[in-house]
Amino acid sequence: MALTLSLLFLSFLLLPQSPCLSPTSLSPYLSGATLLHNYENMLKTFKIFIYTPSTPFHFPHAPASLFYNSLLRSPFLTHSPAEAHLFFVPFSPDTSTRSLARLIRQLRNNHPYWNRTLGADHFFVSPAGIDYSSDRNLLELKKNSIQISLFPVTSGYFIPHKDITLPPFNPSPLPLSDTPDENSTFKTSFLGYLRWDGKTESNLVNEFKGDADFLVEEKSEPLNYVRSLKESKFCLFLYHGDVAWMVDAMAWGCVPVVIVDRPIQDLPFMDTLRWSDMALLVAVRRGGAERLKQLLNGVSEEQYVEMREAGMAASNHLVWKEEPQPLDAFHMVMYQLWLRRHAIRYARREFV
Ligand SMILES: *[C@@H]1O[C@H](CO)[C@@H](O)[C@H](O)[C@H]1NC(C)=O
Ligand SMILES: *[C@@H]1O[C@H](CO)[C@@H](O)[C@H](O)[C@H]1NC(C)=O
Repeated sequence: MALTLSLLFLSFLLLPQSPCLSPTSLSPYLSGATLLHNYENMLKTFKIFIYTPSTPFHFPHAPASLFYNSLLRSPFLTHSPAEAHLFFVPFSPDTSTRSLARLIRQLRNNHPYWNRTLGADHFFVSPAGIDYSSDRNLLELKKNSIQISLFPVTSGYFIPHKDITLPPFNPSPLPLSDTPDENSTFKTSFLGYLRWDGKTESNLVNEFKGDADFLVEEKSEPLNYVRSLKESKFCLFLYHGDVAWMVDAMAWGCVPVVIVDRPIQDLPFMDTLRWSDMALLVAVRRGGAERLKQLLNGVSEEQYVEMREAGMAASNHLVWKEEPQPLDAFHMVMYQLWLRRHAIRYARREFV
């Protein structure tokens, strides 16, 4: 079939929903109460031990650099491995697999911590993620340790429920003087807005360009950009294209539609945020713009307003700050780590 558009695992979104709206339906959280309780505990108790890098390095790009620098300056670090919940293995993003294997072997031989959990209470930042390897050290790092990488991650480089992605960072932040409208009723100009990086080739982009319901802009002026976000009901993202503006879109009340070619499980903070209530994930094949239009037009006003408000609330947790603020992207990454801190530690034989 040439015209094929199917919803993936979030298909329930577009099914008729129960007419009764509970106040909690606007919450972007899987469990808001649990989040706040756990978050307070985390602030009080979370401790991380960082191994000294063999050579000093930095991450060349945000958000990895923002996370790393914030962590180094944070009160979460401890010099005492005995009180650490997690161990951070820092290494430069251009480390070869061979050097990385050597690094893990050294940790294993020189410190008692790796062997206790075979790396399960260790984490690392790798912007692109790491692949499977036959080397024992790399395999344990891949399978057991918590990987932090950039959203979206190449297929196979991300293990759901263990690994974490960093929310995208937009290098040209929007002017803050303007504030988002409360009303979605103004959003009448465009059904869908795509801020195109001019690179990701897609038949779909050409279809959008030829359709007056869609607005496609390349590298526009920030002012136009804000106006386009405000005037469009939905913001369209090609999963492998430019997603840096996704948080802006949500903050400005433009509901994200992520066009994907397979089910994805690497959205930021999936264990905390109810993405299915604030974004649509759709699979669109060739000729799909028309079907996409039907699908978007099929979202009820009520449902749309809910998604929009949940997205606007969630965007506060997805924003990176030079100086970390409570519950911002940095702290939410820390919270994801905190949720993953329980690993079974094996006592060493001589102590049993
Ligand atoms: C960890 O276990 C390996 C064997 O798997 C052993 O060679 C190594 O010495 C152990 N490390 C420590 C610090 O005891
Ligand atoms: C939103 O819409 C309602 C009615 O549709 C209107 O009364 C209200 O003033 C609007 N709010 C803003 C901020 O424009």
